[in-house]
Amino acid sequence: MIKGKFITFEGCEGVGKSTQIRMLKEYLKTTNQEAIFIREPGGNSISEKIRELILDPANSSMTSMCEAMLYSSARSQLIEQVIAPALDNGTTVICDRFIDSTIAYQGYARGLGVQKIKLMNELVCGDYMPDLTIFLDLPPSDSFKRKGGHDKSDRMELESIEFHNDVYSGYIEATKLYPTRIVRISPRGSKSDTASAIIKTLQARGLIQ
Ligand code: TMP
Repeated sequence: MIKGKFITFEGCEGVGKSTQIRMLKEYLKTTNQEAIFIREPGGNSISEKIRELILDPANSSMTSMCEAMLYSSARSQLIEQVIAPALDNGTTVICDRFIDSTIAYQGYARGLGVQKIKLMNELVCGDYMPDLTIFLDLPPSDSFKRKGGHDKSDRMELESIEFHNDVYSGYIEATKLYPTRIVRISPRGSKSDTASAIIKTLQARGLIQ
């Protein structure tokens, strides 16, 4: 039986996801609340190897379906090896990216189809679906401006601004598919204002104290 809480973070490149996850980690630590923090793709040695394969700029000929399947394979391994045992044990799991990234990037931006990816996600996840997803809602045009450009070190980051704009549109589609689970939070304010909004949202849903 699933006893733990499962929280995921989503957003386009450069929206400050890592900072917000780090701030939530600090809050949970100072308030003595136990949680494990993982990232996708990754979180175990097999999924980290799949991550290297997917993000390697040398693999420019990778097909969209191969890419979607690799993200799903990495996810399947992570669920069975880490997420399911933790949740079954009553531990809170916080994951940097999960199924909505596949909807936005592969389903929408790569054009594989949002409904097809939704089915693939359901097949891979079974009952291990997030209780709540924080979507840091900022379009890439704004996040890249804020950062003074966009990182171009891995195969996904190397994609065009148009691709990243499509990813944002894909996230909006995901929020329509899952209006209760996905909560949109704007990171336009200060880092600490955004962190407070996230903590209040998680508390209101009974996911943290
Ligand atoms: P990140 O961990 O630095 O965010 O890198 C992961 C990259 O992989 C990022 O560009 C988003 C992308 N991605 C997908 O395209 N589909 C997915 O399902 C996941 C989890 C990530």
